[in-house]
Order: sequence, then C-alpha cells, then structure tokens
Amino acid sequence: MEEEISIKVIDREENTHLLKIPTDMGFNLMEALKANELPVEGICGGIALCASCQCYINSEHNLKKKTEEEQAMLAEALNVKENSRLACQIRISSELEGLEIKIAPDD
Ligand code: FES
Repeated sequence: MEEEISIKVIDREENTHLLKIPTDMGFNLMEALKANELPVEGICGGIALCASCQCYINSEHNLKKKTEEEQAMLAEALNVKENSRLACQIRISSELEGLEIKIAPDD
C-alpha cells in the first residue's frame, strides 16, 4: 500500500502547494498542513473548538461525516461554506490521495 498521499492546497494568497503526506503517522489534516508550514493555526490543538483550521474541500472525495462537535463549531464559525470542514477532524489516510483543498480566510 502507498505510504504517502499527494494533496493540493491553495493558500490564502491563492498559491498552490503540492504536499506529500505520510499515511502511517496518524496525522490529521491540520497537523499535516502545519508540518508543511502552511498558515493554519490549530489554536485548540485539534479538538474542533476553534475553527482556525477551516478548509474548503474542492475535490469530490468521500470524507467521513462530520461529528456533532465539528458541526457545532462550523455553525458558529465565520466564512463557512457548504464544503467547509475542520482540517483537524480529517484523518490522513490513503483514501485522501489527490485531495484538493483551500484554506479558509482567518478573519
Ligand atoms: S484546530 Fe481547532 S478546530 Fe481544528
């Protein structure tokens, strides 16, 4: 099995980054973005309580459903769109190969 996936990330300045992320380290997407020095704060440490890791999912991947905690946080967050997700709630796995996301504004 592939131990690395490629994902495409558009940052807040519309720059595109192609990341390779290991699937065998138990990362979530927020951690993977931070590890690649993308400007995602992750203030709450990944427990769906800050929305600073909000991203828009631009590809058609079948992601796991939002938990109640994630839904509740997104109901309060700013700049939320239909394809918004909290990156910290998305676990990196081989199913995410080719994922395309955009980092949400931070204001
Ligand atoms: S890091 Fe706080 S909600 Fe994701």
